[in-house]
Amino acid sequence: MTRLIVLANAAAAGETGADLIEAAVAADPALVLGVATGSSPLGIWAALARRRLDVSRVSAFALDEYLGLPPDHPESYRAVVARDIIRPLGLDPARVRTPDAQGDPEAAARDYEAAIVDAGGVDLQVLGIGRNGHIGFNEPGSSLAAPTHVAELSAETRRDNARYFSSLEDMPTRCITQGIGTILRARRLVLIALGEAKAQAVAAAIDGPVTSSLPASALQLHPDATVLVDPAAASCLARHRVAS
Ligand code: PGA
Repeated sequence: MTRLIVLANAAAAGETGADLIEAAVAADPALVLGVATGSSPLGIWAALARRRLDVSRVSAFALDEYLGLPPDHPESYRAVVARDIIRPLGLDPARVRTPDAQGDPEAAARDYEAAIVDAGGVDLQVLGIGRNGHIGFNEPGSSLAAPTHVAELSAETRRDNARYFSSLEDMPTRCITQGIGTILRARRLVLIALGEAKAQAVAAAIDGPVTSSLPASALQLHPDATVLVDPAAASCLARHRVAS
């Protein structure tokens, strides 16, 4: 079942996401956390950083990584995760894994899936959502059962994320992403969506049919998924959903 929580604003959504993670770390100091890049979860990471939790035993897996960037590129997700998540939270970098984009990508995807299994699976996975309904880099049309795999970025995602690169041409075209099958095996999912640009994708994900054309609709298949939204991101949901 998908639990929807509408918060007053982005800051409150970040605090609520941090509350869920803080409680999970309190219950299990060796939590396996699934972390997401992107702008939407930044408030969660900032709120957690302020709380100065003991995360010395927490390990983490990122959702995805670009292919085709040099290893020291500041927008590789390894670099973004280090900057936005590992350092502010005080995570042990050796316990935080991102897919290896420098070797054979197919082998790296298989190794990444195996590493998640070896770690006992992800306990709590944080997710953003693309305007096209993607989760991780599982674009519309992706298998709802796939493990971590090599994927193409959609034209829409490339346009949305080109803001992080000097031009659209510099924006990667391929990635390694946890599959929707991988994501659904996490014991708990917390998706955060902010702003009007996400409103239609959120409504389709929560109230529409489960379909690979809207990958986030797969959350409906998960027994413990929480969706945190601000009022703008909630604006296309059926009114009874927002009121409940
Ligand atoms: P955003 O990205 O939070 O930067 O909007 C979300 C996503 O593409 O998953």
